[in-house]
Amino acid sequence: MPPTVTAQSPRFATADAVARIAAASRRTQQPQSRADLVSLAMGEPDFDTPRLVTEAAQASLRAGRTHYSPLLGEPALREALAQKLTGTAKAPVSAADILVTQGGTAGLAASILGIVNPGDRVVIPDPTYSLYADLVSMAGGIVVPVPLAPDLHWDLDRLADALTDARLFVFCNPGNPTGIVHSREELEALAKLLDGTSTIVISDEAYSDLDYTGRPFTSAISIDGLHERTVYCQTFSKSYAMTGWRVGYLWGPSALIQASARIHNTFNGSVNTFIQDAALVAVQDCGQDVARMREAYEQRREIMRKALSEIPGLTLSSPEGAFYQFPRYDLDLPSVEVVAALHAHGVAVRPGSEFGSQGEGHLRLSYAAGPQSITEGVRRLAQGLASLQ
Ligand SMILES: Cc1ncc(COP(=O)(O)O)c(C=O)c1O
Repeated sequence: MPPTVTAQSPRFATADAVARIAAASRRTQQPQSRADLVSLAMGEPDFDTPRLVTEAAQASLRAGRTHYSPLLGEPALREALAQKLTGTAKAPVSAADILVTQGGTAGLAASILGIVNPGDRVVIPDPTYSLYADLVSMAGGIVVPVPLAPDLHWDLDRLADALTDARLFVFCNPGNPTGIVHSREELEALAKLLDGTSTIVISDEAYSDLDYTGRPFTSAISIDGLHERTVYCQTFSKSYAMTGWRVGYLWGPSALIQASARIHNTFNGSVNTFIQDAALVAVQDCGQDVARMREAYEQRREIMRKALSEIPGLTLSSPEGAFYQFPRYDLDLPSVEVVAALHAHGVAVRPGSEFGSQGEGHLRLSYAAGPQSITEGVRRLAQGLASLQ
């Protein structure tokens, strides 16, 4: 007789990698806005993709561009991205070292899985974007979270300790969930810490076009001492309101891009040809759209900041980029419980603990939602928090 299969003894054992991700993962699926719920939970622009981009995709399909693309990406797109990055890096960037990826997510996966061996130590800020820990765990690496300083910038002393013998440091700039923009000085300090080591850096600059500091944004790849050791990860999702298109790219040292390409091709094959044709138009012709949306986010940031500042018991940080506020609340409750109570009051936000244990006591609110949703969502948040006092 075959053994009885129960929920406790599943018939199909799954890979250890799945259990490792499940153990590490703090990610939760968040609801979109619906009649009775305002969502400030999603990192999802409410803008339509620029018209030129959607038209380019349609034209590409009509022209029969429905066949496989080269494995590293369309040559014209890689060339345009290399030109753009030459400006970002302030040094020549070769198209040969660009890999077009299935969004930022697959770029991060390809680079992390292409670098990390089981047992390798990978340093990440705490709190930070939760995907990094999941991917490091998938690779069998050891996640080393380093608490941020009280102003949510890096604590350089703690970072110096943690980076000893680290294989990799992964961070985002501007930060998700903090909205912090790491300055040139901070990046130079990081370069100094890493001087003489073989530690690799992944700089996820998904929100680099959304910087409200008034200073020019500084990319890690423009810093001596980081340029040579950094894999730059970018996506079209945020700057161009192209979340559903699933396109992004990597640039970095040739050996690391070749390794990432090996992983990316194994998982994904090449990226959709007509999507890359549309992405080329985004890079070449949509600078004004990026600027228009950035300006709108800056206004929404102010609407949200002002409304939040009137809520007793919330301490605001000073986000300078991306589209997130990360306030601290003064209740003695885990953020998951606060989020559940707020949900019952008709507003969805994210628990700070989702981004690391040091995020506990915070909520992450997105102002990628429209102004009306922001005003109504924060009104419900105020009611929900008052009910918990
Ligand atoms: C910091 C950061 N990096 C990468 C991504 C992933 O972007 P994509 O939609 O391109 O997969 C996100 C999405 O929220 C993000 O916040």
